Amino acid sequence: MSRSVALAVVLITLGLAADMTAAAAERVGIGHAISPQDFAAWDIDVRGDGAGLPPGQGSVTQGREIFSQTCAACHGDKGEGRAVPGAVGGFDRLVGGFGTLDTASPTLTVGSYWPYATTLFDYVRRAMPFNAPQSLTNDQLYAVSAYVLYMNNIVPEDAVLDALTLPRVKMPNQEGFITQDPRPDVRSKP
Ligand code: HEC
Repeated sequence: MSRSVALAVVLITLGLAADMTAAAAERVGIGHAISPQDFAAWDIDVRGDGAGLPPGQGSVTQGREIFSQTCAACHGDKGEGRAVPGAVGGFDRLVGGFGTLDTASPTLTVGSYWPYATTLFDYVRRAMPFNAPQSLTNDQLYAVSAYVLYMNNIVPEDAVLDALTLPRVKMPNQEGFITQDPRPDVRSKP
């Protein structure tokens, strides 16, 4: 087969494949372009530097109320966690564990381990309360994040958190992660 014939065969095949895909989609009647409104419901990631944080604000005091009503049943009144029969580890402890990370039995909590306060907001927004995820408003999320940080002695009792102040909260273990992994097979891209 000459080169130009081969190329023509490839192009015709690609053209047919595209036509067939469009025809198949039409025939079975599935799929449509995502609308900006539908996309917005999924576009909720918040990064370590706070990019993606929504408007709103919440205080430790407001968070205390929300925590006792929507979180304490599983995580304990003081964020100490709860044993659950049959579930390894139970419901996570959210408070304490400082100074244990380099011991034989490290206690990983939001306070002792997580490097960014903004991750707390992001995680609770997408996943908590476990039985009703994404049911809290942005104000409630800022408030309950403030309260979890307060229980860990990371912010003072009069703290009010929003998109500007939350990323400024310095987490105790922020420097505990390696940014450049020296192993040759996992080198980060420049
Ligand atoms: C019905 C029980 C339940 C309720 C209510 C609940 N959680 Fe959770 N929470 C869990 C479970 C189970 C996990 C572990 C989930 C996993 O590992 O996939 C978890 C994990 C977490 C974590 C991550 C802990 C870690 O170190 O990995 C945070 C933070 C958290 N919850 C905060 C909250 C907050 C704040 C509320 C209230 C708004 C809340 N949770 C309500 C059961 C619950």
